[in-house]
Amino acid sequence: MNVKPYKESGFSIGNQHIGSRALPAPLAGFSDRAFRNILREFGCQLVYTEMISADGLVRKNRQTWNILDIEGEPGLVAVQLFGCHPTALSEAAKMVEDRGASIVDMNMGCPVKKVVRSGAGAALLDQPEIALETIRAIKKAIKIPLTVKMRSGTRGNPHAALELAPLLEKEGVDAICIHPRTKEQLYAGKADWRQIAELKIRLSVPVIGNGDIHNGIDVLQMRNSTQCDAIMIGRASLGNPWIFLEARGVLGEIPYEGALMPGIRERIQTGIRHLEEMVRQKGEQRGVVEFRKHGICYLKSMPCAKEMRSQFYRMNSIEQTKEFLTNTGLR
Ligand SMILES: Cc1cc2nc3c(=O)[nH]c(=O)nc-3n(C[C@H](O)[C@H](O)[C@H](O)COP(=O)(O)O)c2cc1C
Repeated sequence: MNVKPYKESGFSIGNQHIGSRALPAPLAGFSDRAFRNILREFGCQLVYTEMISADGLVRKNRQTWNILDIEGEPGLVAVQLFGCHPTALSEAAKMVEDRGASIVDMNMGCPVKKVVRSGAGAALLDQPEIALETIRAIKKAIKIPLTVKMRSGTRGNPHAALELAPLLEKEGVDAICIHPRTKEQLYAGKADWRQIAELKIRLSVPVIGNGDIHNGIDVLQMRNSTQCDAIMIGRASLGNPWIFLEARGVLGEIPYEGALMPGIRERIQTGIRHLEEMVRQKGEQRGVVEFRKHGICYLKSMPCAKEMRSQFYRMNSIEQTKEFLTNTGLR
């Protein structure tokens, strides 16, 4: 995929120019190196790792370090950290910078029980002093830009982000991304984009809007109704990296070719390329198993997708998986 930008487009986070306002979201279990490479092919100019435990990095946990697989990546990569201990976070951030990250992103939004119980993720929204301390510590440790990704708040304090974000900005945070749902809401209801607009009024640093983007129309609506600087897309990008071409098109960054719903053949071909990339990165056994959850997303809107799903989960080799995908595409 060779996408030629129209003009100098994008925005800046600290001293980093990001060539596109359409950003992929960090997705635990999905945002590995293979997916990041696919996303770059589809025009993403800044990609994210999934959230990585700062404590795990400091303790030299092997699995945690495996996630920090960014060395030599071509282009900008933001590494997202989670934790709540300022010392561990600052040490981890320095390690991440030394590994070659372009940006450190601090997680203040994860609602998963295990993370929240440890005091990290969205729990920090109820602990503004600790949240600020973590940011001060990281900021001191690194030279690359520091961003924060947050939810809007918690049940007891649903607008916590609106109060905390300006304080984070004062501590030197270079951009803020908000997914305007509370910690308890998980994915229920609709993301309240008015909070993105409100944050944009309160902050000088770039605001990245996130939540419930399904297509190009949503991208335009979010940008127009909130004036946010960039738009982050999560779930809708799974099995559908074309959404970034559509987003860039409606944002005027590349020629707009209409709503991009690729044909089955193209989806299957991209799925196979994604599979090959995963196998190249992780070896056949792990690559094939870890590709399955991506694979079912590429098959998502096809007829019989549900019944294919269980069959697909039985594929154990790259050849079997490719054959299954190809036969599905030709069916
Ligand atoms: C499977 C999955 C994994 C996620 N992992 C992360 C993560 O590691 N870090 C993070 O900040 N948010 C994570 N999120 C939240 C997304 O980045 C995003 O904020 C959320 O899905 C809302 O955007 P969307 O409506 O475009 O999906 C995850 C979401 C999903 C569905």
